[in-house]
Amino acid sequence: MKLVKIGAFGLAASLLAVAAQAGTPPAIYTAPQAQAGASDFSQNCAMCHGANLEGGAGPALVGQAFASASNNYTVGAIFTELSQQMPAGQPGSLSHTQYEDIMAYILQKNGYPAGSTAISYDKAMGDTTPLVSQVK
Ligand code: HEC
Repeated sequence: MKLVKIGAFGLAASLLAVAAQAGTPPAIYTAPQAQAGASDFSQNCAMCHGANLEGGAGPALVGQAFASASNNYTVGAIFTELSQQMPAGQPGSLSHTQYEDIMAYILQKNGYPAGSTAISYDKAMGDTTPLVSQVK
């Protein structure tokens, strides 16, 4: 019985260690932004990246195929790519608000929580927050 107790404690301790290491992703956008971003995405991005961000002519924008820890993505790098290069063929053609909202939507789909601080175009460009998808 003693061994079982030690085993359970060890398991709990290592689960805690994993949780501490992975951390909870920060809340860097608001729920209304993500909601608006969903429709902007479906109108401007889904034809290449898939209705559920699963990929198509363009790469997946959700899960480990997109942002695994080893990719070392940051919010700033992805925001810069999407606001300066996307939609492919018409880069930079959307409004700043639309790019903010779409970034919020991509974060939400990758398991980042909504909060009270809105993501802003100028700050998002240089945001060094790691972007590691929480979706397995
Ligand atoms: C005409 C097809 C097309 C459209 C529309 C399009 N993309 Fe892309 N996208 C691509 C392709 C192809 C790539 C990969 C090559 C590249 O980076 O240019 C890409 C790359 C990306 C990347 C980088 C992914 C990575 O893992 O580095 C992001 C982020 C992205 N797109 C977001 C968007 C968003 C947001 C929209 C809508 C505003 C959009 N794209 C619209 C084709 C498209």
